[in-house]
Amino acid sequence: MYNAFFGFRESPFNLSPDPSFFYRSPQHEEALANLIYGVHSRKGFIVLTGEVGTGKTTMLECLRDYLDSQYIEFAFIFNSRITTDQFFEMIAYDLGLNCSHKSKTEVLFALNALLIEQGQQGRTTVLIVDEAHNLEWDVLEEIRLLGNLENPKMGKLLQIILAGQPELDRKLDAPNLRQLKQRIVLRCNLSSFQLQETIEYIHSRLSKAGMASQTVFPEELLREVHQRSQGIPRVINAICDNLLLTAFALEQRLCALDMLEEVCNDMRLDWPGKRSKTRGGLPGADPANPASFVSPRE
Ligand SMILES: Nc1ncnc2c1ncn2[C@@H]1O[C@H](COP(=O)(O)OP(=O)(O)OP(=O)(O)O)[C@@H](O)[C@H]1O
Ligand SMILES: [Mg+2]
Repeated sequence: MYNAFFGFRESPFNLSPDPSFFYRSPQHEEALANLIYGVHSRKGFIVLTGEVGTGKTTMLECLRDYLDSQYIEFAFIFNSRITTDQFFEMIAYDLGLNCSHKSKTEVLFALNALLIEQGQQGRTTVLIVDEAHNLEWDVLEEIRLLGNLENPKMGKLLQIILAGQPELDRKLDAPNLRQLKQRIVLRCNLSSFQLQETIEYIHSRLSKAGMASQTVFPEELLREVHQRSQGIPRVINAICDNLLLTAFALEQRLCALDMLEEVCNDMRLDWPGKRSKTRGGLPGADPANPASFVSPRE
């Protein structure tokens, strides 16, 4: 909507996990390097955790691009609210297994054959499960069993990456999953950005959208965006997108603090220190009642 006004080639703050906008903060860089290392060194189980909106799916999309570029076969399960039957069906579909996708036995035979064939060619195969914190226990158990597929010479035949919110770690701590937990050899975690990372992140997205040196967000405003978003990329995107939209509506090329105030009100955003900043809170919020300050919308 505002792209032409600001001279962007595309929207800088899209909410989709687009790898072409990937900003490599030191922790994102390290986590991606770990995932790639885990796959190549046939580590078996790898877990990627992070709070809501910190970039797990975006990172998996980057990994997917990498695997494609290396001709490494993979299955990507992005909907984790599935039954075991659907789980095997999705694996068979993604890996293009030549068997009845509805028969678990046939899928397992065909998968084993593919893994061995890939292994003989010096390649590995990857299973990526996003939102793994939502997986049912019986699906997790099937995943554990898939992790047992190995060959004395080729090592683990299937590299399994489980990505999810911190609940995933808590789930894996459950006594009935101790066998799976024991097999996890690599763990990566994403946390929210520090101030400098938030600033670089915003610059990076603006630059990728076509504004090489940004002229829309003054330094003071960037600090406020960091504070209010608590350094969470998805919230940063939502705030910045709304700021640009507001500035466009007012035909101004520079975003200002009063616009941020309006945007945060509209988003019903909450952040530490909000009440002191807004001198008693936003309209409709009662400073004496913390419950009246609602959390950011998903
Ligand atoms: N390192 C990054 N570089 C570029 N964009 C990012 C980065 N991290 C997160 N984002 C952006 O933030 C938003 C949320 O990212 P993403 O969906 O990957 O988070 P998530 O951790 O998978 O969230 P959820 O827990 O809800 O699944 C997306 O718009 C994504 O493009
Ligand atoms: Mg996600």
